[in-house]
Amino acid sequence: MIKGVILAGGAGTRLHPITKVTSKQLLPLYNKPMIYFPIQTLLEAGVKEILIIVAPEHSGDFINLLGSGKQFGEGVKFSYEVQDQPLGLAHGLGLARDFAKGSKCSLILGDNLFTDSFKKEFDEFDESGEGAVIFATEVPDARRFGVIEFDDQMNAVSIEEKPENPKSNYAQTGLYIYDEYVFDYIDQLTPSARGELEITDLHKIYLAKDQLKAGIVEGVWQDTGTFESMFEAAEIVKNMENK
Ligand code: TTP
Repeated sequence: MIKGVILAGGAGTRLHPITKVTSKQLLPLYNKPMIYFPIQTLLEAGVKEILIIVAPEHSGDFINLLGSGKQFGEGVKFSYEVQDQPLGLAHGLGLARDFAKGSKCSLILGDNLFTDSFKKEFDEFDESGEGAVIFATEVPDARRFGVIEFDDQMNAVSIEEKPENPKSNYAQTGLYIYDEYVFDYIDQLTPSARGELEITDLHKIYLAKDQLKAGIVEGVWQDTGTFESMFEAAEIVKNMENK
């Protein structure tokens, strides 16, 4: 069974001053806290054991809101790990080592909204998947994103952060699945110029082993890290709820 990790730490500096006193992932998208949506995406994909990575100053609020996970369905179990400092996405994932030991593991960013179901892709990976999968979506202006180029077998050929001349129109979203070796590869990472363990460096290890694949997001993907994108995400949720 694939386990799930939600990254809900970080500083949320682009949402200051609101995030000076609360966590970005607790802010509302229309009628629910933002983190409900990545939780829903994992549950829909069949993931029941979920580790939530939180910043120390907001950890109590997450536990108050989400508790054991029981309210989200039978067999659903949440655990929590505190990331003392926002040292990067791969650093946050690294805190899941004991939680995910020996299992395949998915990662979703706590500020990402998806409307697709990924059940089929998760089931396939659970059964026979190896390496890692990055879920990607077609965008009009790939230069603003991390871009993944892949062949007709969905094998990644290149990944580039905000390239001048994108090699494909597919942007990497905040949803990934990894095999059980991911923590060995995280051990090989060193901090980038901005002092973080970068998820892209982790993916480059899989790419070098020809073990990186692309998955396709056909429905909505919205990152909610800025006021503009959060507002758009709230409208998407409002439209879904009113349907
Ligand atoms: P980002 O949006 O890249 O970073 P941030 O949330 O700190 O925001 P800002 O850039 O405005 O300061 O993070 C993506 C997601 O990952 C978000 O849900 C926060 C989470 N995160 C962690 O849990 N730990 C980390 O070390 C980082 C950098 C992010």
